[in-house]
Amino acid sequence: MLLRWSLVLPLLAQHAVFAAYPAKRFYSSHNYYVLEHDPSTGASLSDVVHALGVEVVEQAGELVNHWLVRVEKSDMALSPRDEISDPVLDAYQRLRRETTLERRSNPVAASVRYLSRQALRQRTKRAPPPIGPPPEWTAEAIADRLGIHDPLFKTQWHLVNEEYPEHSMNATSIWEMGLSGKGVISSLVDDGLDYTSEDLKDNFDADDSYDFNDHEKLPTPKLSDDHHGTRCAGQIAAGKNTACGIGLAYDSKVAGVRILSGPISDVDEAASLNYGFQNVSIYSCSWGPPDNGKSMEGPGYLIKKAVVNGITNGRGGKGSIYVFASGNGAAHGDQCNFDGYTNSIYSVTVSAVDYKGLHPYYSEPCAANMIVAYSSGSGRSIVTTDKGKNACATTHGGTSAAAPNAVGVFALALEARPDLTWRDIQHLCVLTARQINKDDPDWEAIALPGRYYSYKYGFGALDAYQYIKAAQDWQVVKPQVWFHTKTIQIEGGVMPESEAYSGGRFIGPGGVVSTMGVTKEMVAENNFETLEHINVKVWIQHGKRGDVEVELRSPHGIRSVLAGKRNGDNAITGYPGWTFMSVKHWGENPVGDWTIKVSDQGSAEHNGSFLGWNMVFWGSAVDPSKATSYEVPQDDVDVVLPPHESPPPSPTTSAATSTKQHAKPTAHLPGDHGEAAGENTNATFPDQSDTTIPSAVPSLGASSTPTADEGWFSDMSNLVSSQAWFFGAVGAVALFGIAAGLYFWRRRVLRLRNYSTLPEGDELPMSGVRGGRLGGGPRTKELYDAFGEVSEDEDEDDADEQTRLRAGYADESPAATGSRGRPGQYRDEPEAGTSHSRAGGAASPDEGSPSDGSWEHASSVA
Ligand SMILES: *[C@@H]1O[C@H](CO)[C@@H](O)[C@H](O)[C@H]1NC(C)=O
Ligand SMILES: *[C@@H]1O[C@H](CO)[C@@H](O)[C@H](O)[C@H]1NC(C)=O
Ligand SMILES: *[C@@H]1O[C@H](CO)[C@@H](O)[C@H](O)[C@H]1NC(C)=O
Ligand SMILES: *[C@@H]1O[C@H](CO)[C@@H](O)[C@H](O)[C@H]1NC(C)=O
Repeated sequence: MLLRWSLVLPLLAQHAVFAAYPAKRFYSSHNYYVLEHDPSTGASLSDVVHALGVEVVEQAGELVNHWLVRVEKSDMALSPRDEISDPVLDAYQRLRRETTLERRSNPVAASVRYLSRQALRQRTKRAPPPIGPPPEWTAEAIADRLGIHDPLFKTQWHLVNEEYPEHSMNATSIWEMGLSGKGVISSLVDDGLDYTSEDLKDNFDADDSYDFNDHEKLPTPKLSDDHHGTRCAGQIAAGKNTACGIGLAYDSKVAGVRILSGPISDVDEAASLNYGFQNVSIYSCSWGPPDNGKSMEGPGYLIKKAVVNGITNGRGGKGSIYVFASGNGAAHGDQCNFDGYTNSIYSVTVSAVDYKGLHPYYSEPCAANMIVAYSSGSGRSIVTTDKGKNACATTHGGTSAAAPNAVGVFALALEARPDLTWRDIQHLCVLTARQINKDDPDWEAIALPGRYYSYKYGFGALDAYQYIKAAQDWQVVKPQVWFHTKTIQIEGGVMPESEAYSGGRFIGPGGVVSTMGVTKEMVAENNFETLEHINVKVWIQHGKRGDVEVELRSPHGIRSVLAGKRNGDNAITGYPGWTFMSVKHWGENPVGDWTIKVSDQGSAEHNGSFLGWNMVFWGSAVDPSKATSYEVPQDDVDVVLPPHESPPPSPTTSAATSTKQHAKPTAHLPGDHGEAAGENTNATFPDQSDTTIPSAVPSLGASSTPTADEGWFSDMSNLVSSQAWFFGAVGAVALFGIAAGLYFWRRRVLRLRNYSTLPEGDELPMSGVRGGRLGGGPRTKELYDAFGEVSEDEDEDDADEQTRLRAGYADESPAATGSRGRPGQYRDEPEAGTSHSRAGGAASPDEGSPSDGSWEHASSVA
């Protein structure tokens, strides 16, 4: 020991005094410790290192009296004791014991204040540390410039986020442009609105308010938990005064329509969604069917009619704007795909993103999600007005707080551009939403150049500045048109009424695949220019609805997962004509083959059959003068397969007069919605290994035999374009397909040169061939496209292509690029334990329907 110390001293001196940089460490051969030494006890550092049997390396960074010391590992290996024991730490422990017993008598022991062994640890890289806003963009500076004296303004991070400046609604520059929502009215269809609040009384619109629960003129909150509508209203129109915070459109008006504080009939719900609809521009709806991961419900006939009435006749014909929260049930595996309100083409569906820009675990994903807006998560909630004269809420959140933030932005936009139609509002979302978390596995490129889509984030975060800048010189879209495909009945599948069925194809391994073609003639005949939404209606019989997965693949290889697995959904009713919606195909050319795949979990107990499906394509008119208004068919809500081609003699009266209780927006909002950390790494539908739609065989069959006149399947003769898919069986055909595919692929690439850019992913057929395994998405896409073009497209000349481009289609999609190499898009990972424990137990088929009163309990918890 003495010898060693004498050797170390010069080293120590050298480092402590002269070293300009730390000594190299040898962690493989030495153990390192940090020793805190107190020289005032009289014991020198050398006494201490003697006692511990270590050598001094250097001072520990800039910490005075802290020393990095070390001992060779071989010394320890010679120790007769077991590996876990560390002689240095043992010596330290002995010294400490002495310290407590006889402190005075042992200055060495007293001088060792602290010793710890240094372990190598890999620190996780973080996102670059947030950079604070420039001084002129702090909440204080903005408040000064705009004369904002609301005491909580500085805590309203969704308005000015000083910690993460890139994450806010980004509206303050819009205010500075002089816009604050003047003249715009939003209606809070909710649980009441406290019009006596200091924050809201000046912006309250009594004329357009009503209480449909108690049938009174004013939407007075009466139940103890009737604070939700008031909080949401505050986000939109809390006044610029001295109460709480401020609304996004603080000079706009809010009306309150109370429907959530008790059961409500369809007729009243319908009336609520049209209440004051000439003067009200936007309906803020933060409710829907229960977010329990097992219900599948949508609006009834009357309610659908009211919504169509709203978009057709509301706001002087420009259309009411319906904003719906996506739902808070993601932790229960819920998806807004199973909610007929969020699934509606007429609603702007809004999910949540937290103050760090992460996905909050409650926020539901689906193919109908349009945007995200800021709400609770990762330790922050929304600060807004509360029920009471001068009460403030600081724990508001969930997707139902995201929706009003979107409403506030739309109110600002409508002040700037009152002529925007309901569809312009959606187009502007599609085009201006800001992509967040670009590395999130959910993002996929879509047909529109440079745009991406995520089931979690829709087209991205709504950014008031980008939105309104774009709105200012936006050219209003042409009227809406649509066309239905015929219904494909698979192997004679019929469902004369719910739960009664026959025919259909058994869903075996690999699922059931069916394809239908859309021709240029169909598009032209229907005066159809640019695609916006698509609907897919399916009839599926199944012993466990939550096992069923549905995905759709467009002619250009863009995939929409329409139904992911839902562990908690044990319903035995299957899908009796359920309508899905996707916005992911916005701007795509609909011509070509659309392929659906229905699969299940292959469980022994639960199985089912795919009976039939159809599609509706919605978009803008070529010739506005020929456009007509959509009317909800009387049988639109029916379950019958094949659907009636003409309305049945009389509508079912029972459906029209039903009464239901909508779940409170907070009913399934987890209690920790504000605190729980968000994420940006989890794919919504992971594990895509066996879910690639096999397209070669069905699409060859389908699109090589179009009937000249109809251009698509006449109901029965061609409907067997579906087949179960097995790897082996397809193999031989695939070999042929590869050859043919390569040939057409080459031709296509040559043709594509006429386009400005060819997405890199389009070169993928080669890698698919190398891979030698069916299931490589990109390769099957290429085969698919190649076969698709065998039919008619191959004859198109360049002039056609140019016309198509001019018509507004983003024809060649970079979908393959977007989805390539992603570990998964198609299945929900089974969620273990916690979040499902509530859903476990009594799972009856009827659990889909909301049970009266259940929300009361839940929301008193929330
Ligand atoms: C927010 O608004 C500013 C203009 O004030 C704009 O430059 C910026 O791009 C917008 N978006 C973000 C994320 O800051
Ligand atoms: C709607 O606005 C018009 C004028 O803008 C006004 O005359 C009418 O009274 C308003 N109606 C309601 C219900 O507020
Ligand atoms: C994301 O994935 C991790 C690990 O797979 C899991 O622990 C976490 O709960 C997931 N988060 C969400 C929001 O699903
Ligand atoms: C499908 O499920 C039913 C009910 O569990 C069962 O009786 C039947 O044998 C299953 N069919 C097949 C082909 O697995």
